[in-house]
Amino acid sequence: MEAESGLVPGRLARGSRCFGAWVGHELVGYGWLSTKSEWIGEVELEIRLPAGEAYVWNCVTLARHRRKGVFRSVVTAIVGQAHKEGLARLWIASLEGVGGKTMQQAGFQPVLRFNSAKRLRLYWLMVSPADGVDPDLLASAREAVAVKGALSVRRSVTRRH
Ligand SMILES: CC(C)(COP(=O)(O)OP(=O)(O)OC[C@H]1O[C@@H](n2cnc3c(N)ncnc32)[C@H](O)[C@@H]1OP(=O)(O)O)[C@@H](O)C(=O)NCCC(=O)NCCS
Repeated sequence: MEAESGLVPGRLARGSRCFGAWVGHELVGYGWLSTKSEWIGEVELEIRLPAGEAYVWNCVTLARHRRKGVFRSVVTAIVGQAHKEGLARLWIASLEGVGGKTMQQAGFQPVLRFNSAKRLRLYWLMVSPADGVDPDLLASAREAVAVKGALSVRRSVTRRH
């Protein structure tokens, strides 16, 4: 995990779990799963999860193993494990255009879309519902990330977590 390796003990101590993908003895990728609260760095928001829900985050494929289905395997394995454990709902944050089919096939559906910009140390976050999203699901997502309106402007925050 290179520069992030120092963060691992804190993550494990707060109950987050890491799932690794291996080829033989070589670790080729990983992803994290949290069931309480977690920082979503991409949108500078904290997600707070009710009981029975979890957040999949920091999925990384080591550079020389990319584009071979490792991310797909990690996401699918985490979803399978969560299902076995009886978790009712998983959340994931994805970048536009990366792994859409993988997410969809793993059972994820788009709920909220974010666009962001940093100007003068302010963080502008534009939030909109995904096309055709179920209103109850949308309300749950907004509650989980505590975002009510279509725009928030705050001081930009960076967290190492
Ligand atoms: C994004 C990342 C996890 C993809 O891992 P990977 O093992 O190469 O992905 P896979 O081979 O399993 O492919 C999964 C999907 O991602 C797509 N994909 C992979 N790398 C991509 C790239 N650089 N640009 C666009 N799409 C990409 C694949 O086409 C595939 O798409 P599909 O689901 O629509 O079929 C990897 O490039 C990575 O670790 N990047 C740095 C960390 C990061 O950006 N993580 C984002 C999620 S937190």
